[in-house]
Amino acid sequence: MTRHLISIADLDRAALLALLDRAQRYVARPGEPVVRNRSLEGRTVANLFFEASTRTRASFELAARRLGADVLNLDINLSSTAKGETVRDTVATLQAMNVDAFVIRHAESGIQRMIADFVAPHVSVINAGESHLNHPTQGLLDALTIRQHKGDFANLVVAIVGDIRHSRVARSASQALRLLGVKELRLVGPAALLPEDGVEGTRITSMDEGIRGCDVVMMLRIQKERMQAGSIPDAAAYHREYGMDARRLALLADDAIVMHPGPMNRGVEISDEVADGPRSVILDQVNNGVAVRMAVLETLLERK
Ligand code: NCD
Repeated sequence: MTRHLISIADLDRAALLALLDRAQRYVARPGEPVVRNRSLEGRTVANLFFEASTRTRASFELAARRLGADVLNLDINLSSTAKGETVRDTVATLQAMNVDAFVIRHAESGIQRMIADFVAPHVSVINAGESHLNHPTQGLLDALTIRQHKGDFANLVVAIVGDIRHSRVARSASQALRLLGVKELRLVGPAALLPEDGVEGTRITSMDEGIRGCDVVMMLRIQKERMQAGSIPDAAAYHREYGMDARRLALLADDAIVMHPGPMNRGVEISDEVADGPRSVILDQVNNGVAVRMAVLETLLERK
């Protein structure tokens, strides 16, 4: 296992499976007692979020606390032009206060790698969202959720649907699913939102065709903040053409699951009926997020 988790590409299949196995032991469904231990007692985890987040930040915080770590949360509101120098100073300062792990979300690409190269040898960096490129713990929690519902990956047909071009979730999920060996990965959406490169999969612009027979459908949020003003699709038209609704559920495999990383634009990429319906595993994803982050924090920090 590497010292840092910047990208799913840092993992081989064995390391990925080991993280999923460990995470599975930390899963506690709502209403069950949470799993906790003191394995990170005396360690300090700093959450540095340079970009808004609710679930990912809360999830990392709960994960660290449930392992007995001290947690520091810094929401740093900086313009997108804020440069690495500033981030480095922040990290150096916190490192002097005995921070052992930095969980970093940033709208620019490369910041997490730069910090990983900069920190002291005992310190780990975990990527909590990097531009449109990487969101490795999301990829892990998506893989864990699929495994819980489907067991084996080898026979699965998976469609990732929507704004794939701007999605770090899609990139990390597709890397994880490829390592796990799914049978088929489809990238479904309007041509303007399909990725030019960097994501493997069959590109399909017809939603009905793209999701037909799928075992798993991952819906994505329209990332308005990453689009040019003129290119933002009209919400009602988008819902008609690419929204997951009750009619389209009937096109999927009988026991298909529908995923969404959140936050959802209800009525745009997904209807209320689907989001809150029996095929939806969206809250399982949230639940698994804490377990996956416990597994990642513990794995990275225990070697030291
Ligand atoms: C995603 C993100 O921020 O990358 N949310 C999340 O972490 N669950 C997806 C999104 O913003 O659409």
